[in-house]
Order: sequence, then C-alpha cells, then structure tokens
Amino acid sequence: MENNRLTDAQTIVAHDPHDERHYGAVTQPIYQNSLFTFNSYDRFLEAMQDEIGTSIYTRGTNPTVKELEHRLAKLEGGEEARCFASGMAAISASILSAVGAGDHIVCVNEAYGPAVQFMGTYLTRFQIETTFVDGTDLGAIEAAIRENTKLIYLESPTSLFFSILDIPAIVGVAKRIGARTIIDNTWATPCYQRPLEMGVDLVVHSLTKYIGGHSDALGGAVIGRSEFMKPLIKGEFMLLGGIMTPANANLMMRGLRTLPLRMEKYQQQGLEVASWLEKHPRVTKMNHPGLPSHPHYELAAKLMSGTGSLFSFETTVPIETMRRWAERLRYFRIGVSWGGYESLVTVHPVPRSRPGPARTLVRLYIGLESVDDIILDLQEAFAGIEA
Ligand SMILES: Cc1ncc(COP(=O)(O)O)c(C=O)c1O
Repeated sequence: MENNRLTDAQTIVAHDPHDERHYGAVTQPIYQNSLFTFNSYDRFLEAMQDEIGTSIYTRGTNPTVKELEHRLAKLEGGEEARCFASGMAAISASILSAVGAGDHIVCVNEAYGPAVQFMGTYLTRFQIETTFVDGTDLGAIEAAIRENTKLIYLESPTSLFFSILDIPAIVGVAKRIGARTIIDNTWATPCYQRPLEMGVDLVVHSLTKYIGGHSDALGGAVIGRSEFMKPLIKGEFMLLGGIMTPANANLMMRGLRTLPLRMEKYQQQGLEVASWLEKHPRVTKMNHPGLPSHPHYELAAKLMSGTGSLFSFETTVPIETMRRWAERLRYFRIGVSWGGYESLVTVHPVPRSRPGPARTLVRLYIGLESVDDIILDLQEAFAGIEA
C-alpha cells in the first residue's frame, strides 16, 4: 500500500531550502544564546508587540527550537507547535491549558503512568478530578461525563497493552459536550497517525522516543490549532518555563531527518518479531495492533497507516523466571523508554484488574539490530529457561 503520509514526511524532514542568512550552511546553526538584542529602541518595542512570535528571549522563541517546531507542526498538520524540556512537560502544560479549579477530566485508564499520576493525584490539590475509563468502551466514556467535564485525555495505542481507541468517535462525544481533546501520539508518530485530521484539539509527544531516535536527549511537543496554542504559549509555556534548549532542539532535528526511514524499518522488524513470538508455545497473548489477532486490528488499520515496534506479550511463566529470561537476552538491554536504535525489555505483572489467570507481561522494544539476531536471541533465552 502506498503511504502518502510517509512520502510527504520524508520531504518535510529532509529538505531545507538554501539560506543565505546562514552562509548556505546545510543544517541550521545552533543559536546557543539566552537573549536577542536590538539596535534601536523602536525595533525593540516593535518586537515586544509580538513577544511570542519574535526572538527576544530563549524562554519564548529561539530560532533553532522554532525550526523544529515548524517541522513538527507541518508533519502533524497543525498550525503551531511548541517544544518542551520533556514529554511530561508538554503533557502537563497541555492539560493545565485545558482545565481550571473545579473542572473534571475523563482519561483513558491505560495512559502513560506519570500522566495518569499527574491527573489522578497531583491535580486533585486544585479540585480538579479525573475519572479513568476503559477508552475502548465509548459507553464508559459517555457514562463518565459530568457537567463540568472540560477535557478528554487520550493515548492510542495505549501504553503496555496497546489498545486502540476509536479517536473520531471520542472526538464526536467531546465536541457534543464542548470539552477539549488531547492525545499522546508518541507511539505512532505523525508518520503513521494524524489525530488533528480526526478532529483532536491538541497532540502531545515525547520527542525523547522515536523522533529524537538516539536515546541522547529528552524533549516534548504540543501541536494544534492557533486557537488553542496561543493561550498555551502565553500561559503554560512562557510561565512554567519548561522549554527545550537549543542544543537539544538540534539533536531532535537530527533525529527527525531519518524518522520516516527509521519508522519503516521499526515497523517491519517489530511485525516480524511479534509474528515469530505469536507462534511460540510460551506466549499466551500478543499485544501488537499490527497483528490480525489483535482485537482492534481493523480499527488500527483504519486510523494508522503503520505501526511502531514497541509491543508486549503475555505468558503464564512466572515473573521471576521471565526476569531471568530477560537477563539471558544478548541484544536487549533492560531499561525504560524506547525509540532509539537499541532493543529494550521490561517485565511486569499483569494487573489483577485484568480478567484471566495470573500472567506476566513482557514489554519489548525492537531496535535496529538485525532482526535475525533478535529472533535467535529470543529463541535462545526461551531455551535457556526451559533447561
Ligand atoms: C507514551 C509516552 N508518553 C509520554 C512519555 C513521557 O515522555 P518524557 O519521558 O520525555 O517526559 C513517555 C515516556 O516514557 C511515554 O512512553
């Protein structure tokens, strides 16, 4: 299937027009400075009229960061983007821009842990309550809505179990009640999913993952229409000050250059490894939305034009044995995060709230090592725990 989104993305990330301001330098230099000065008071006052659009101070607009924001807005199909120090800085700023004291949030219960903690615990000190629901159940979302619901917070696919939400249907509910929608699109990236085109108000990203792509910098982004972005920029962005540094923006730009290319490889390797695991006798269930056995496979194919390489599987092998299994792996490092070149593994208990017998959940991130080496590694680790 031809993926127009991917080919559009390739040109957006690879092409820079010749720019005489930078002597025709192929990449934009890093503006490693905190402030910008003016050669007349009139020009200074003129700049201050457009404080958020002009380079005056780096906790507002810095040209290196702005270039990254421009590309991210283009990739997601948003009018504006702002970059933050981390994904969590972007997530917390976007949520704070949507709610005030006494408001209510509906959040999917499989969202990224610290985002859940921010809404479910931290915001309660401002009398902001959150109801966590099974996001795959539209009825549960409708039932959770209150008169003061101002935000529906989404992540699709969800962290750990990789469930797919019916984004357009949820947007329909939010529009009916006048609530805002925010979605974490880190997993699919704009190469494979464009939530703004489905009517979502704001997209958030951890740039630390696929977009940065090299496990050497943290970053986040919020992208959307100017109507929502302008107050967020003047408020949570400028006032909380969790901005991205110019040096990190440069690293993110470098990662972005190869994002479409890497996503194709991640997709292919992720599917190959997941298909192999699905046939393994020790694997009881795969959680990968690109496999036809996934309960939301058709919805995933409708909403996304491709898949990432972070997924999980369930097994009845006890957690301690699976932790030894993880230690046997040569090419997987034990660690959190994902999106770099290196394969990763973590092992968790399946929460008791999920139906079925006690199970262990293994989350795998497939990196850029040879897929044959990865599969052999998994096979040998299984053989090792059987011995
Ligand atoms: C889906 C998702 N969203 C957001 C974040 C938070 O990003 P950061 O670590 O850059 O703050 C993470 C980090 O693991 C994540 O997995």
